[in-house]
Amino acid sequence: MEVIIQPDKKAASSLAARIVAQLIQRKGECVLGLATGNTPLMLYKELIRLHKQGELDFERVTTFNLDEYVGLSPSHPASYTSYMWENFFKHINIPAHRVHIPDGLAPDIPAFCRQYEGAIKAAGGIDIQVLGIGTDGHIGFNEPSSSLASRTRIKTLTKQTLEDNARFFNGEENVPHHVITMGVGTIMESRKCLLMAFGKKKADVVARMVEGPITAMVPASILQMHPEAVVIIDEAAASKLERSDYYRWVYDNKPDWQKY
Ligand code: GLP
Repeated sequence: MEVIIQPDKKAASSLAARIVAQLIQRKGECVLGLATGNTPLMLYKELIRLHKQGELDFERVTTFNLDEYVGLSPSHPASYTSYMWENFFKHINIPAHRVHIPDGLAPDIPAFCRQYEGAIKAAGGIDIQVLGIGTDGHIGFNEPSSSLASRTRIKTLTKQTLEDNARFFNGEENVPHHVITMGVGTIMESRKCLLMAFGKKKADVVARMVEGPITAMVPASILQMHPEAVVIIDEAAASKLERSDYYRWVYDNKPDWQKY
């Protein structure tokens, strides 16, 4: 796991954007795994800026989103489909047919999930998976106790996540209880994972993910087993890490050829 501590979320998001931009510029036809929530908003803003400046072309980029609420129409303002189009896709030149977001209204959810997994494979697998982290340690919507080998499937949200996401739904009672999420195993097959976390609220869970044991009770901790997991955090989210001095030292002493 590479842990990179940046002064604030702006610097952290610019660095994450640089990593994504380098992939697009190098590979052209590439596959991005995308996340929602507050955390990646500045990353998307920065990618949009680079696109508008003529530095990034999304014509041959394919995307797969991590998750979506079950029973929510894509046009619902709190759906992840609305989020992605509002905050990212409508501002870039990605062809609509290259965008994939789980269908919360799929009549046969297990069949849809199998098809989603098949589509990721058919696209050649995910090059970079962007991730946030829930305060309970979830990635995507893989709540604590999720199998670390799980595939795309339906999940039931924890009370904690219902509370955390209530702000998007005018109260906890309106948050759908079920979601479709890529599995932990699906995420682990991405060639690179790029997890961001910002703010004091994430400090505990970041410490458990990076320095705690690998456990299904903190699904994000499985990233310790990923060959290319990059964790980009701000000072506040890093505040409970025991080895932060070491992570800073490693980053400051990266050989030139390894720098982003
Ligand atoms: C939701 C999403 C996750 C995201 C998490 C954290 O639960 N399903 O993919 O990482 O929220 O959200 P935020 O970035 O707003 O803290």
